[in-house]
Amino acid sequence: MRSICLVLALGLALVGLCVGQSVLKTTEWGFEQDGIPETWGFEGFITADNFTVSPWHNVPLIAGTGLHSFIVEMPKDSSAKFEVQTEAPLNPIKQDLTDAGELRYYHSNLTWNYGLLPQTWEDPAFVNPEVNATGDNDPTDVVEIGSTRFATGDIVPVKILGAFALLDQTELDWKVIAIAAEDPLAEEVNDILDVDRVMPGRLAEIREFYRTSKVPDGKPENSFGFDEKPLSREYTLGVVSQTHGFWLSLVSGARDNTEGKSLF
Ligand SMILES: *[C@@H]1O[C@H](CO)[C@@H](O)[C@H](O)[C@H]1NC(C)=O
Ligand SMILES: *[C@@H]1O[C@H](CO)[C@@H](O)[C@H](O)[C@H]1NC(C)=O
Ligand SMILES: *[C@@H]1O[C@H](CO)[C@@H](O)[C@H](O)[C@H]1NC(C)=O
Repeated sequence: MRSICLVLALGLALVGLCVGQSVLKTTEWGFEQDGIPETWGFEGFITADNFTVSPWHNVPLIAGTGLHSFIVEMPKDSSAKFEVQTEAPLNPIKQDLTDAGELRYYHSNLTWNYGLLPQTWEDPAFVNPEVNATGDNDPTDVVEIGSTRFATGDIVPVKILGAFALLDQTELDWKVIAIAAEDPLAEEVNDILDVDRVMPGRLAEIREFYRTSKVPDGKPENSFGFDEKPLSREYTLGVVSQTHGFWLSLVSGARDNTEGKSLF
């Protein structure tokens, strides 16, 4: 059973609990599924110590020294486009629908785990001066390049390695590249240049996938800022700290929530 009313009341306290007491107590994360994945009406909810919480707002961004939390929406070797629903109460993970109301799939399987960084928001009112584009009104996306196939709803500590500045027409949609802290190769990759050395061709594969990902929907190819180059870990940590700041402004009310986003 989900205790939505209780969580509504506890929502703010849980943020404090997860952040403030992490030394004293480890939160037991879970994923409660309603319905069958890849069928109409499926929803998955994140739980923290058996309470339903929001994956976007209640999971702490920081997962330990030098590590961030990655919430898995799509496992590697899959194409069903599962997404955190930013406008639904408690932000369940559901499969996206096409304009025709059918379940949405990518044109091919991802060969990486895909999801988001909690407590981040790409503010659509902020024009990034380096690429002259505005935020896409979603949390910051993550491409996790380790060898483990995670499951939808998993919360995985990752090391951030870099990012691509994907431009979906006039919107900036960061694709952060990261590796699970527990991956056998994690010790060997600490920055974006290490990825090309240890996994040759991997970054080009990711870039080309996202260049054409919207073409089947009748949209033009995406482009990339910064001459299509993947950016360094240091630069990317700046991006994450910026999108975390935008999220803080959103939930604190300092930034008007004009985008119709549900907060809990
Ligand atoms: C969550 O529920 C399970 C099953 O009822 C129980 O074993 C576990 O102790 C609970 N965890 C917490 C943190 O309450
Ligand atoms: C995608 O991955 C699934 C396993 O998750 C597999 O059954 C399917 O054949 C793959 N599809 C392609 C086109 O490789
Ligand atoms: C920045 O983007 C806006 C909106 O797409 C466009 O109208 C404007 O001309 C662009 N400015 C520059 C300097 O490219």
